[in-house]
Amino acid sequence: VLAEKGNHRHFMEKEIHEQPEMIGRTVSHYVDAFENRVHDISGLDFRGASRLVIVGCGTAAYAGEIARYWFGSLARLAVEVEIASEFRYRDPVFLPGDIALFISQSGETADTLEAMRLAAAAGVQTLALVNTAHSTIAREASLVVPTLAGPEIGVASTKAFTCQLSALACLAVLAGRHRGHLDRAQEAGHVASLLAAPGLMVRAIESEDEIEKLAQGIAGYPTVLYLGRNQYFPLALEAALKLKEISYIHAEGYAAGELKHGPIALIEEGMPVIVIAPHDALFDKTRSSIQQVASRGAHVIALTDPDGASALAGEAARIVTLPSGSQLTSVLLFASAVQLLAYHVAVYKGTDVDQPRNLAKSVTVE
Ligand code: G6P
Repeated sequence: VLAEKGNHRHFMEKEIHEQPEMIGRTVSHYVDAFENRVHDISGLDFRGASRLVIVGCGTAAYAGEIARYWFGSLARLAVEVEIASEFRYRDPVFLPGDIALFISQSGETADTLEAMRLAAAAGVQTLALVNTAHSTIAREASLVVPTLAGPEIGVASTKAFTCQLSALACLAVLAGRHRGHLDRAQEAGHVASLLAAPGLMVRAIESEDEIEKLAQGIAGYPTVLYLGRNQYFPLALEAALKLKEISYIHAEGYAAGELKHGPIALIEEGMPVIVIAPHDALFDKTRSSIQQVASRGAHVIALTDPDGASALAGEAARIVTLPSGSQLTSVLLFASAVQLLAYHVAVYKGTDVDQPRNLAKSVTVE
């Protein structure tokens, strides 16, 4: 590999730390920073869209799940998100006015590529959100919307994921404008928040020492539960995936509101439960989930922001305070925290962080 690790022990750590720069590059590609507007993209018009169908595998699919909340709320655009291996074999229904978006870091994932071919054969416009400009998915798509994460070497995706989110956020703002749901000032507010994300993420990553101290406590447990609501629910799924991939600890992500429908039965003394708890409109509900698991003995680690931290004092065993972000950017900050947590648990356990067992960077065969 030609890429250098710099001062980092692993590519994954380097790539986590590169995120502020790469999300900045990606956002800059999509926005006009003087006008605080998202550029129009030739050939892309969300006005007549009846639905956005998003398809990917693994981390890329979770980026799509998070963006579903944004397209719905900013653009009143219905979104369906599906993993490519299911989508391609279930004879999916396409509707007139569908736009299909395929998310892939490598642009070579076999299932995602075949899913895209299926949509193209049905006459649906295909957008490729890819990190590799010369990939097969990029070549075959009707339109490429790039992420500018640079080469990602660590098998577990980090910066490609947050760049996918950054690009998706820009597209959701664009869709909001096209569909008349965002006025000039609202668009400017969202764009300004995206332009501020790199600086906030630098500060989020400064929590690394604090997060590293949590790693030992987690490394000794056979299972970890991640909880989140709203867009932080798919982030909880991604957080659990990161931990599984590189530390080999079983982890599950759950919607906090589903706690009583099953996972609460798993809680026993000392079990780590990591709760993504921004101080937003749903904070009180998340807080009540924290109380429910803590009262049953869970070791609660709350990832939150300054307002959430003061509200949760005494309720969670550990609190990690990240900067507060916007509707579109706080998920980026929480993403960097859960990546750092998985990374340090894996380092503590001594696994092969960049080349975890049984996994490949790009799954080009089924
Ligand atoms: C593999 C990688 C994951 C990635 C997934 C999709 O499983 O290990 O990190 O999320 O493939 O890859 P893609 O290149 O399509 O984003």
